[in-house]
Amino acid sequence: MCLIDKMPTFIEKAREWIHGSSYPVILTGAGISAESGVPTFRGAEGLWKNHRPEELATPMAFYKNPEMVWEWYNWRRSIVQAKEPNSGHLAINNFQYKFPELTVITQNVDGLHIKAGNRNVIEMHGNLFKARCLKCEHVFSHETTTDSSPVCKLCGAKLRPHIVWFGEMIDEQIMHQITYHLNQTDLLLVVGTSGMVYPAAGFARQVMQRGSKVIEVNIAPTLQGSLNLRGKSGDILPELV
Ligand code: APR
Repeated sequence: MCLIDKMPTFIEKAREWIHGSSYPVILTGAGISAESGVPTFRGAEGLWKNHRPEELATPMAFYKNPEMVWEWYNWRRSIVQAKEPNSGHLAINNFQYKFPELTVITQNVDGLHIKAGNRNVIEMHGNLFKARCLKCEHVFSHETTTDSSPVCKLCGAKLRPHIVWFGEMIDEQIMHQITYHLNQTDLLLVVGTSGMVYPAAGFARQVMQRGSKVIEVNIAPTLQGSLNLRGKSGDILPELV
């Protein structure tokens, strides 16, 4: 029997797990926004195909050429600004109807979970629509798509994208919150992430080691879960609740 034939059984199993769960948590990556038209990072159309991460998403890149880095983020912001949440994001609202406390940990910086109305969203890698002062560290809402050398309205120092770059640590408080939820969960739903970037890449293993269940939803096999559902998150998530 091929995987496709088994899918209805897998979906049934996943539903059972979800309904029997007392503390589900969702972890998402770029794949959940793919059906909204936001490019993923890796894969055929991935954002990193044409750009080397170390040229753009590192503190050193920003130090050397802040204008170039801002232009890249301005370009990404201009793409995302026009996008709408898809049925995958919206299905999470139904999950939260059943599980009001459900936390969504996302690696995405596109803000689409919040635009969809999802609650308890932890944006562990920051947000494209925020900027942070290099000196006073104030975080501003940042909708502009053109300015390639924005400055702080409070102290006049340079602003940087409020994004966690390669080589940087996730904010300690945010990591603390994530650890709390991962320690509580009995079911982690991992959606649309390649599992290439730590610490998020280690979350599935971490909860499985505690005996919790992991369901993975992905178009490609990355086998991060104890139950792997192959397909688009926009098709599969609405089927789960
Ligand atoms: N439904 C489900 N999964 C999908 C879909 C879809 N419609 N489209 C793509 N995918 C899957 C791909 O198969 C891949 O496994 O989404 C995953 C996207 O992987 P990445 O592009 O590596 O994105 P992500 O895992 O979120 O990257 C992690 O890397 O560069 C950094 O900071 C960036 O947050 C990002 C981090």
